[in-house]
Amino acid sequence: MIGMRFADLLLKKRNGGTLSAEEIDFMISGYVSGEIPDYQMSAFCMAVYYQGMNREETIDLTMSMVRSGETLDLSQIAGSIVDKHSTGGVGDKTTLVLGPLVAACGVPVAKMSGRGLGHTGGTLDKLAAIPGFSSEVATDAFIQQVKDIGICVAGQTKDLAPADKLLYGLRDVTATVDSIPLIASSIMSKKLAAGADGLVLDVKVGKGAFMKDLTQAKELAELMVQIGIGAGRRVTACLTGMDQPLGYAVGNSLEVVEAITTLKGDGPRDLLELCLVLGSEMLVLAGKANSLERAMSLLQDAIAQGRALKKLQELIVAQGGNPKVISDYSLLPLGQHVTEVTSQVAGYVTGLDALAIGTASMQVGAGRRHKEDSIDLGAGVLLRKKLGDPVVSGEALAVLYSSAPPPAEAADTVRAAYCMAEQPIPSTPLVMHRVDGSMS
Ligand code: URA
Repeated sequence: MIGMRFADLLLKKRNGGTLSAEEIDFMISGYVSGEIPDYQMSAFCMAVYYQGMNREETIDLTMSMVRSGETLDLSQIAGSIVDKHSTGGVGDKTTLVLGPLVAACGVPVAKMSGRGLGHTGGTLDKLAAIPGFSSEVATDAFIQQVKDIGICVAGQTKDLAPADKLLYGLRDVTATVDSIPLIASSIMSKKLAAGADGLVLDVKVGKGAFMKDLTQAKELAELMVQIGIGAGRRVTACLTGMDQPLGYAVGNSLEVVEAITTLKGDGPRDLLELCLVLGSEMLVLAGKANSLERAMSLLQDAIAQGRALKKLQELIVAQGGNPKVISDYSLLPLGQHVTEVTSQVAGYVTGLDALAIGTASMQVGAGRRHKEDSIDLGAGVLLRKKLGDPVVSGEALAVLYSSAPPPAEAADTVRAAYCMAEQPIPSTPLVMHRVDGSMS
């Protein structure tokens, strides 16, 4: 790439041109090695934000980011390995339920997860609420644990797609996160580097998600599916609603309790439905079932017979956690300040802004504003009312948990998240669309 100058590539992209695979490789390797500084890369992200990237460029960018670091070789693990990824939501504790559930049906789960930032929580933070649980697992031990018990959930090593780590940090502070080609390449580079044969994508749509409307979400889902297929993987995407939080619990310990009750067969309807839908897709991709209906009944059996809960217990033990949390929730940290947020009006809940609830949860200490912030694992928001529920004036809408008295703004944020009307509105389906790339 002698003679190539990044300033020329910036000009080309700013003017709406198309970058070649070689040019994209030059950019990513130059950025990771430090030869291309943050200020130039910021300009690139902003140019992409406005000019976009075509499908080929996005695939080239993804593959270049995959090559920027190591890739996991999971070939020692018998069976087809299927990963799942959610684009991020509020109260999304799906991995805690889905991992043990799918593993209990005989599909190995080798899951690399992340920490949360902003109003969306991360799986690792939720698992950290379990006393003793460690998500720092070396690669060899990670593979061995999946071979031994069929599941490991660990933090992503910094060696996987390091270009994404750098780029994401930059996008976060340059208002360039919500660009479809940048999101697609970011997610898919990590997932391809993590080595699974198949991938189920849960693309969230609505106020609490990156993708606020169905058209954008479809575009993102189709692009990610095409990238996966181009890289030889089997990929399916489900577009699911994120207008209201998933389940009732938002905040780390609270979400662990809700995940355990779901594995006991007693969880919220929407969370259970989502886990069964995504789990069915995973079983079909892994070849464990030849139809979604058959897969669904295998998953339901695993819950009913207690096998999914037992798998969670095995996971907790294997990663140093105290398995007694499954029967004794008081072993989980929980904020001692308990504050009811009551409704000042009567009616039916016709709107419940997931983003606002995520923000309230951050205000009581459950989430991070900056990636170096520490979090209160026992803090959060437990909803008492969700869309469609009737509310009497003075009744509790939600309960705040925090280790110090909560800031007054948190209760206001929760109250403002609710829209109330005299008549209920019809409910919308949780799964809004499906992109099936497994047959391609
Ligand atoms: N999640 C990611 O991993 N990357 C993005 O760009 C957005 C969400």
